[in-house]
Amino acid sequence: MGPKRTHGKSPDEHSRIVRDGYDKIAHQYMQEREQYCNDKEIQEFINRLHEKARVLDIGCGGGVPVLKMMLENGFIATGIDFSKTMLEIAKKNVPDAHLIHGDVTKADFESNFFDGIISTYAIIHIHKSLHPVIYAQIYKWLKPGGVMLMGTSWSDWEEIAEYMGVDMAWSHPAPDTSLQMVKNAGFEVIFDRLVPTGNNETVYWILARKN
Ligand SMILES: C[S@@+](CC[C@H](N)C(=O)[O-])C[C@H]1O[C@@H](n2cnc3c(N)ncnc32)[C@H](O)[C@@H]1O
Repeated sequence: MGPKRTHGKSPDEHSRIVRDGYDKIAHQYMQEREQYCNDKEIQEFINRLHEKARVLDIGCGGGVPVLKMMLENGFIATGIDFSKTMLEIAKKNVPDAHLIHGDVTKADFESNFFDGIISTYAIIHIHKSLHPVIYAQIYKWLKPGGVMLMGTSWSDWEEIAEYMGVDMAWSHPAPDTSLQMVKNAGFEVIFDRLVPTGNNETVYWILARKN
């Protein structure tokens, strides 16, 4: 079955809308971020990591709560985000994290490097044609035994719409497609679940291991 809705933009145009949008709304987004609580799933990710684990946060935004929690647990934390304004906020919130300004779809890290890779509310902004590549890259960047926690969407959807007063772009497949992509990348799935979060949002969480 094809996507329920497409906006017809290329992945590059899509990315530009997301990046420019977050550069403008970063401060407002961070003020409203605390209404989304994902502590249970994040804690299950943390429980599978050892002290001094190397963790990557994809689309880390302003560094709170995820990178902050990683540092509080004694992990070596790296965040990547392509919004300059978000990274400026992250520098203040989590000065001990290693912060990279870049587009994760164009990034490359060493193979077998990270013990954990986490991403909350970010892959939903990456053009869904690129999701299989992202999962394959995450698999490559993780050490054997490493874990991925991915928060993606409950629906197959793609649109450009007004969000906090700016244009914003979303693109994501349905849960069964995301799960299949994760399995195709080679992961063993530990759990997948739909969780209502806050502000009428439902997140589809996948926790998976590289064997
Ligand atoms: C909704 S915010 C989520 C931020 C943070 N993860 C959180 O939980 O609050 C989405 C973030 O993903 C970033 N992002 C989206 N696509 C990206 C990409 N291709 N490469 C790097 N960052 C990206 C945006 O700039 C934005 O900061």
